[in-house]
Amino acid sequence: MALHVASLYAGYGRIEVCRDIALDVRGGEFLAVLGANGAGKSTLLGAIAGSIASRGTVTLDGKPLAGLNARDRARSGLALVPEGRRNLFAPLTVMENLQLGLRLLPHAERARMLQDLYAMFPILSDRHAQPAGLLSGGEQQMLALAVALARKPSLLLLDEPSQGLAPLVLQHLAAQIGELRKLGLAVLLAEQNHRFAAQLCERYVVLSSGELSGGGSGRELQDAEHVAHALLAEA
Ligand SMILES: Nc1ncnc2c1ncn2[C@@H]1O[C@H](COP(=O)(O)OP(=O)(O)OP(=O)(O)O)[C@@H](O)[C@H]1O
Ligand SMILES: [Mg+2]
Repeated sequence: MALHVASLYAGYGRIEVCRDIALDVRGGEFLAVLGANGAGKSTLLGAIAGSIASRGTVTLDGKPLAGLNARDRARSGLALVPEGRRNLFAPLTVMENLQLGLRLLPHAERARMLQDLYAMFPILSDRHAQPAGLLSGGEQQMLALAVALARKPSLLLLDEPSQGLAPLVLQHLAAQIGELRKLGLAVLLAEQNHRFAAQLCERYVVLSSGELSGGGSGRELQDAEHVAHALLAEA
């Protein structure tokens, strides 16, 4: 199992947002966490990534992460692409942002990884000298993804990558994320856009007011949109 989460509680001070979360993501699997605004998606991803306080069990590739801070969790193979591409530095160029992402890799591997990332996202190669803040929303999302991939994670946590993107851009982004299957990593995708998630994930769970409540296969999600709507509406 790439990611194992059990009895996880997370929140802010005395405010408990996520309660008794249990989920597993196998190596190479894409799992969607669907939920409405305020359901607790970002809190859950932050708790797994170690940037939000939590208690409970989180193991990555069999290694317990409880007690490790966000940096050590990243070193263990976990990468979070936060909501709103917040892992980017707007005044820095595309290449400088990628170089920051590469810091966790041994020196000898960095040049090769940079090449691989440019091959995976040719638009970033074209824009390598442009400040990240001047990229389009879709391009920024690609860069946010590439920065996270730069450290060769075994688990990628994607927090609403579809946010604020036009339908055509979303198609392109879905195709790019789909390409990550070749890398064999596990992906936990938090989304409100269930159509976007259905294109990518073989399985989904629903987060509603901080608790998981049911789920199914990605195919089911595509076939029975009304079910997804009902689930999302209750949050
Ligand atoms: N820093 C914070 N301090 C206190 N409460 C917070 C904080 N951040 C989020 N919350 C609360 O936690 C709950 C869940 O928020 P969270 O951001 O995890 O939801 P979400 O599912 O990611 O929503 P969205 O789709 O809007 O991104 C909300 O009620 C929110 O008000
Ligand atoms: Mg959120």
